[in-house]
Amino acid sequence: MGEEEKQQRTHVAQLLAIGTIASVTGVALGLLIDWFPIAASEEAGPIDTLWDVLLIVSVPIFVLVQTIVLYSVWRFRMRPGEELKDGPPIHGNTRLEVIWTAIPAIILVALCSYAYVVLRDIETAEAREMKVRVVGEQFTWTFFYPGEGGKEIASNQLYLPEGRQVRFDVQSKDVLHDFWVPAFRQKIDAVPGITTRFRVKLTRIGTFPVVCAELCGLGHSVMRQSAHVVSQADFDEWMADKQQAAEEGGGGGGEEPAGGGGAAPDGKAIFTTGSSPACGSCHTLADAGTDATIGPDLDEVLQGKDAASIQQSIEEPGAEVTQGFQDGIMPTNYGDTLQPEEIKALTDYLVEVATK
Ligand code: CUA
Repeated sequence: MGEEEKQQRTHVAQLLAIGTIASVTGVALGLLIDWFPIAASEEAGPIDTLWDVLLIVSVPIFVLVQTIVLYSVWRFRMRPGEELKDGPPIHGNTRLEVIWTAIPAIILVALCSYAYVVLRDIETAEAREMKVRVVGEQFTWTFFYPGEGGKEIASNQLYLPEGRQVRFDVQSKDVLHDFWVPAFRQKIDAVPGITTRFRVKLTRIGTFPVVCAELCGLGHSVMRQSAHVVSQADFDEWMADKQQAAEEGGGGGGEEPAGGGGAAPDGKAIFTTGSSPACGSCHTLADAGTDATIGPDLDEVLQGKDAASIQQSIEEPGAEVTQGFQDGIMPTNYGDTLQPEEIKALTDYLVEVATK
C-alpha cells in the first residue's frame, strides 16, 4: 500500500468516526427535545411520528455534509508557501455522480410518499363530524356553531366535545390570518374570499391556546383565544345555554357573564379578561391596571364621554376614530360576542372611570 493511499484511508476513517459520533449525538438530542406542547388530538400521533422520522433521516445528512466541509477546511487548508499550488486535475466520476443523485432521490420519494399517507390519514372525514365555522378578523376569532332551525350561534370562545371529529371551516373578513391550535397540531390560513378547512378528533379534555399564526397587523400578538375541550355532556349543556341565549335575542350569545353564577356581570372583569381579545390587551386604563398602546389611551379619550358614545365605540368602533389611530384595527364583533348585559356592565364601568 502506497503512502498516499494509506493517508486517504486515514482521512476516510477519521471522517466516518467524527460523522457517526456527531450523527448519533444529533439524533439523540433531536429526539430528547420536547418540541411540541401536550397533544390533544388523534392527528397529533401520526404528525409527531412523521416529525421524528424526518429528524432521524435529515440530521445524519446534515451532519455528513457539515463534517466533510469542516474536515476539509481543517485538513486540506492552504498552508504558507502553497499559494501557487493547484490540486490534482480531476474529471467527472460517473459512478459517484450516479450514487449521489440516486440516493437523495430515493430518500425524497420515500419521505414524500410517507408524508402523503399521513396527510391522507389525518384528513379522512368521519360520518358524524361536527362543523364549526371559524372567522378571523383584525384581531379576533369568532366561532359559529350550527344552531336549531339553521341559525348559526356565535361565540368568542371555542368549546369542543372530546371524542368527536370536528371540521373547522376557516374564513377571514379582512386580511390573511392563520387558525392554529398547537395542541391539535393542525393549522391553516384564513384567506379572504375562500373557505379553508381541517379536521381534528379531540382526545384530551383541557384548555388549549388558539393562536393566529400569520402576521396580520398591529394587534396580531393579541389575537389569542382558548379552545376548551370538554366532555360531550358538558358540551351539550354549554350548547343548550348558547341556544337559549340566542333565542332570547340580543347578541348572538356571548360567554357566560364575567363573575358567573347569575350575578350581575362585572364591567372591570370584562375589560381585563372577559372579552376577547380583552379590551385591556390593547388599551391603557389605569383603573384596570392595563398599559397597552395598540388602541387609544382610555384614561385620555374617555374624559367627558357619555354612556351612549362609549357604548357606540364598543359596538361600532369605526363610528368615531381617535386621531392618530387607524380605523379597522379594533374588532367589530363585540356587539355579537358579548351579551347585552355585559355590554351594559362594561359601559357602566367605563362611564364610572371616565367621571372619576
Ligand atoms: Cu390574525 Cu395574526
